[in-house]
Amino acid sequence: MSLVNEKYIRPVEKSGTLLINEMMQEKVRKGEPVIRFGFGQSPFPQMARAIEALKQNAFQKTYEPVQGLPALRERVSSFHKAAENLDVPASRILIADGSKNLLFTSMEAMTKADILIPAPAWVSYAPQAKILGHNAIPVITTAAGRWRVTPEAMEKALAKKADKNVPSMLILNHPGNPEGLGYTAAEQRALTEVFRKHNVIVVSDEIYGLLNHKGEHHPLALEYPEGTITTGGLSKWFGAGGWRLGVALLPEALDGAFKQTMLGIASETYSCAAAPIQYAACEAYIWDQATKDYLAHQRRILAQSGTWMAERLQKSGIGAEKPEGAFYLFLDFSKHAEAFRRQGITGSQQLCEMLMRETGVALLYGDVFGMPKEHLCARLAYVDFDGTKALQASEQAGLQKPLDENFHQQHLANNVRGTEEICRWVEKKSMSAAA
Ligand SMILES: Cc1ncc(COP(=O)(O)O)c(C=O)c1O
Repeated sequence: MSLVNEKYIRPVEKSGTLLINEMMQEKVRKGEPVIRFGFGQSPFPQMARAIEALKQNAFQKTYEPVQGLPALRERVSSFHKAAENLDVPASRILIADGSKNLLFTSMEAMTKADILIPAPAWVSYAPQAKILGHNAIPVITTAAGRWRVTPEAMEKALAKKADKNVPSMLILNHPGNPEGLGYTAAEQRALTEVFRKHNVIVVSDEIYGLLNHKGEHHPLALEYPEGTITTGGLSKWFGAGGWRLGVALLPEALDGAFKQTMLGIASETYSCAAAPIQYAACEAYIWDQATKDYLAHQRRILAQSGTWMAERLQKSGIGAEKPEGAFYLFLDFSKHAEAFRRQGITGSQQLCEMLMRETGVALLYGDVFGMPKEHLCARLAYVDFDGTKALQASEQAGLQKPLDENFHQQHLANNVRGTEEICRWVEKKSMSAAA
């Protein structure tokens, strides 16, 4: 007899990221070359001053306040004001062990909710909504519409609500994982009209905001301050995913029962982010020249690589928008769908498995981002390079002149090679289908 009857076990599947990773590990074991475009982890190192602060604070051992260290909340508040003109006082800032937990807690604060999730969107939103028993409503976007959520798509999704009284929460990620695109101020204003009309809470996942390649991220809270929860943290712009430090900036309207409930849940589950990490984070959240330069170098390396790759892929008839931020491209193979079909490839998981098997290039298939299985699409994370060396070389070159071709060939070689492999593979498949 099993200890727990399976019907009482929640149907939460293992993340789709694991399958391709397991195939990749197998190749590595056999000594075969692989290109790691599957995992979305920042390749860049943290700033030295925060690493030093972490060392100095290793002795910190007390439980910190559930909401986060007051000094850190002050720093986060001033930082976002200086960097992005966001005006959120420390009293409305929550610190946790990663923004993923804050996203979950913000959904968990409601007993019942309709969670609107764009398709495609980051892998964890829909499973989180499902674990909580909330109703997840997809907001459909299109390749032709650059995967942007439009007011019309929002209206369509909201029309699917069974009960207008149940709160609506949209999770909007920009720059986005998986597509690397942002929303202009005008696009945000148009969406805000729909948000206001339907009283939508928006969790604006801006974990990649500071990695807008031009430093021109436009936070949604500037347009919709009354209804936006902004989330962020150290995982991406600071290259410290494993430090587990996330932040949430709440709107004034949620500074009552909603915030207290989030804090109540935090106190009954994770208690607080690790104390030494919070002290170290105080040295990350400083908007000075060193931080600005650190970001400027990362941005131009990502912009150079991502733009080159998108252009190269487009030449082979693979849909890929030139990225505006983060380190992702969302590839659309629809133009080759007929050729793939004749080769027996009818779904994106199958496509990614075959690509991995035949070329060693890892991509993450579209289904895990909420796309229909038969839509041939996949996410490419262009992070297969040594971020420490690339950052050092960029710093040595200085910000006055652009990075040259030499830098590209030397420091971004796997990104180049992997792109060429994908293009060659797609062209070969198309040609054999035609033959
Ligand atoms: C869009 C998006 N949101 C949130 C997260 C999670 O961030 P954190 O490390 O702060 O939990 C990630 C991490 O990959 C992400 O890509």
